[in-house]
Amino acid sequence: MIAIMCAMREELEPILEYLKLKETVEYANNKYYLAKFNNLDLVLAYSKIGKVNAALSAAILIEKFNAKKLLFSGVAGAIERDLKIGDLIIATKTCQHDIDLTVFGYEPGFIPESKVFFECDENLNHIAKKVAGKLGIKLKEGIIASGDQFIHSKEKKEWIAKTFGASAIEMEGGAVGCVCDNESVPFFMLRAISDAAEEGAGIDFDEFLEESSRVSAKFLIEMLKEI
Ligand code: ADE
Repeated sequence: MIAIMCAMREELEPILEYLKLKETVEYANNKYYLAKFNNLDLVLAYSKIGKVNAALSAAILIEKFNAKKLLFSGVAGAIERDLKIGDLIIATKTCQHDIDLTVFGYEPGFIPESKVFFECDENLNHIAKKVAGKLGIKLKEGIIASGDQFIHSKEKKEWIAKTFGASAIEMEGGAVGCVCDNESVPFFMLRAISDAAEEGAGIDFDEFLEESSRVSAKFLIEMLKEI
């Protein structure tokens, strides 16, 4: 079973359009869609926004549906300057920029007995790069940082860039990474840029959420053909 996860309904809907839906199952006040794509058995869900919701859904996808791989598709704010609205990025690793135990001498993002960075699956990233090459699509690779905040300030964005070396920002990848790492399930984090995570980002997000979600969904489907 392969899990496909999103944060928002707008991110999941364009993926569902490509699939043969079999059944929906409810767990913990959320819907899980069982579907087929070619010969692949899929379970899909949108978690709702944020790290707690994302961690809950990722754990359910693994524990209840026995997902052996988890692929995330959605949108993100750009940190790196050459990322423009609609561009695709895959994470090399994810982290949580809003964890702060620095008063105890720990580095930003670190929790004792855990890690700052969660490594994405190299095989899935390799497939993504192969698909991008074949289709002539520009695909960036970099660190994606997550936190329970919609970032809309140049200052905050620059702090996240400097502290974590992040190329993009969203609100779920670090949580999904943490769950998958602890569960030893390979994960893949794909995002299309919806905004520049600085002043005005809220307006751009509203305007480009659907379009960028579709870009990410379409690429994910191309990847599924290679899995
Ligand atoms: N997801 C998309 N854009 C974002 C932003 N600017 N901050 C946090 N999450 C996002």
